[in-house]
Amino acid sequence: MDLGLKGKVAIVTGAGQGVGEGIAAILSKEGAKVVVNDFFQERADRVAKDIVAAGGEAVALQADVADFDSVTQMVKKALDKFGRIDILVNNAGVPAPLPEGDTPASMDNTFDKVDRALWKRYIDVNIYGVMNCTRAVLDGMINQKYGKIINIISDAGRIGEPRQAAYSAGKAGVMGFSKALSKEVGKHCINVNCLALGAVPHPGLDNRRIGMMVKMGMTEEQARDMIKGIREKAIKLYPMGKGLGRFGTPADVGNAVAFFASDASVFISGQTLSISGGYTTVG
Ligand SMILES: NC(=O)c1ccc[n+]([C@@H]2O[C@H](COP(=O)([O-])OP(=O)(O)OC[C@H]3O[C@@H](n4cnc5c(N)ncnc54)[C@H](O)[C@@H]3O)[C@@H](O)[C@H]2O)c1
Repeated sequence: MDLGLKGKVAIVTGAGQGVGEGIAAILSKEGAKVVVNDFFQERADRVAKDIVAAGGEAVALQADVADFDSVTQMVKKALDKFGRIDILVNNAGVPAPLPEGDTPASMDNTFDKVDRALWKRYIDVNIYGVMNCTRAVLDGMINQKYGKIINIISDAGRIGEPRQAAYSAGKAGVMGFSKALSKEVGKHCINVNCLALGAVPHPGLDNRRIGMMVKMGMTEEQARDMIKGIREKAIKLYPMGKGLGRFGTPADVGNAVAFFASDASVFISGQTLSISGGYTTVG
């Protein structure tokens, strides 16, 4: 099916690795021109280079989505390069590592034990990041009477995930924001939807977890074995095992994004779809 994305311009935030990288690759395969954003220039450069090497069109633009000035500069550069923005995928949602070390994978601790500075980092990226990027592209989308805004959230935001309270709050906040915004901008032919992911393992996530475990005194090999063991157990225990029985991949997410970025989904707005192999079946 031709999704009609040829020549459309998409910004994918946090696309320097993992899920965002998968989304950027699929949108490019469908013919979109892609702005590969990341907090780290070198990550964005690598992904944009890979897209171009595969025959696509891409530009790497560094910006911190939590910083509105940084975001407006990125959008200005994207407009200078491609002339318009048709699609915004707000994917950045796990804070980038701090200079002094990695941010825990999903603020992995109970709420009574987590430092308040860390809550702020999660809210800054998850909520302000989405609002900043959305605000920065919105006038252009309203003027052109066309836009697709796709927010990558987590099923943690819909069902609540213990040990990830601030993260869950951030993702739930994005869902409320998206519903409200969809009601404001529908008349301008702009769709706003959320995709709520289940577990999507990828090397970037593993590396961050391994880094943390090594800091706690494990060898790299022990850390890798532990992650493998946890994953094998999780696939059996995790409710997802009752669904399709596997974890998701960045390409699974990219395919869903391509649908929501296309006019095949033109009559869907203000909705949240779980991309989790059947893990969550709540409304
Ligand atoms: N991987 C999963 O299992 C999973 C599950 C549920 C939801 N999600 C959501 O999917 C999205 C992507 O997850 P991932 O696993 O690929 O994350 P990741 O941390 O592996 O990659 C995210 C990328 O975003 C960049 N980034 C972080 N903060 C940024 C900022 N302030 N500005 C710009 N870029 C920034 C990072 O540098 C990194 O390259 C997130 O919104 C996450 O919450 C992921």
